[in-house]
Amino acid sequence: MTIPATSADATALLGVYARVGPLFVAGEGSELIAEDGTRYLDFVAGIAVNALGYNSPVIRDAVLRALDAGLIHVSNLYRTEPGERLAAELTKSLGGGGQAFFCNSGAEANEGAFKFARKWSKKTDIVAFSGSFHGRLFASLAATDRPDYRRPFEPLLAGVQIVPLGDVEAAQQAITADRTAAVIIEPVQGEGGVRPVPAEFLAFLREQCDACGCALIFDEVQCGLGRTGTLFASEQTGVTPDMYTLAKPLGGGLPMGAILVSDAIAAALAPGDHATTFGGGPFVATVAHDVVRTIAEPEFLAAVRAKGAWLGDRLQRLAASSALVREARGRGLMWGLELNEVAAPIVAAARERQLLVLTAGPTVLRIVPPLTITREDLERGVTILGEVLA
Ligand SMILES: Cc1ncc(COP(=O)(O)O)c(C=O)c1O
Repeated sequence: MTIPATSADATALLGVYARVGPLFVAGEGSELIAEDGTRYLDFVAGIAVNALGYNSPVIRDAVLRALDAGLIHVSNLYRTEPGERLAAELTKSLGGGGQAFFCNSGAEANEGAFKFARKWSKKTDIVAFSGSFHGRLFASLAATDRPDYRRPFEPLLAGVQIVPLGDVEAAQQAITADRTAAVIIEPVQGEGGVRPVPAEFLAFLREQCDACGCALIFDEVQCGLGRTGTLFASEQTGVTPDMYTLAKPLGGGLPMGAILVSDAIAAALAPGDHATTFGGGPFVATVAHDVVRTIAEPEFLAAVRAKGAWLGDRLQRLAASSALVREARGRGLMWGLELNEVAAPIVAAARERQLLVLTAGPTVLRIVPPLTITREDLERGVTILGEVLA
């Protein structure tokens, strides 16, 4: 692999990110390569985006095929095949029925889902949960339980209530037949600390939404598309929402989000109700189609489950043997280590040993490697993590 020479300088980039560490110039498999040639084992995967790893032949082929077709963008004024095929693939994986709307990010998917819920329910309010993260736009941020992210930008969308996660009584009071349009929840919370939500709580929300005529939205932007070992994380709970929101891995690293809506909600929407210039264009949709097809293969998902079980076992053992680790939580290849102290110094120490991990809130270390990672690479990373934690 040839590594390009760089003359990079970050001073012209808006300072809303605290970027750290080396300048990355290439990637291969589960490794990122810095400009000096140092290889970093990547348990971050572009924040749970690069499900197929770096320089994936699946994505390469799809990109080249999309380029050969000569269509990067056409607009949603006209029909193109890739978006239609992708929508069919996603709805088929839900057992048929329903429809897809494509957008460009996770926050956008949630904003759209809120609009769809309002139109369908003819109500306004939204219920979300403690520890949630749904994005940084005015409605998705209002539903995000990070007061420090919200405060400088208030007033955000009105009518959004954040209820303690798992608190049935509080949720019962918050979800009402006269006001609530939507209830939004991540079946496995990501940014809020990697917390799988108990199936019973999701089932309770399903019942409550049915009783009150409001839309249940599963935000699977981070936990969806194979991350937890099934195509949708909620498959493992037996609970079906009215809408799924997806993004992160969907476009293979290209910006793409999706809202999958039930037939009933689809029936409430008409031309003009929602739109975005770029959503579901032929270039991204060609790539996303092949990403979804690859991940949805039963052998692929079985491999994620097997590697995830191995990783979970190793992390539980690490938690039991390290005074620094209070708990290991996760599903599939989405894990968090709750520490007894702030996690950022551990992230920095791991990076010094060429392992990339990230935080999920102040005291949680998050591990979300490419789904294609090998057992050997997982083992190498866990060994480094063990050394750092020791
Ligand atoms: C569960 C969840 N929802 C929504 C978002 C927002 O996605 P985006 O950053 O693509 O707007 C994120 C991003 O981390 C997420 O983890």
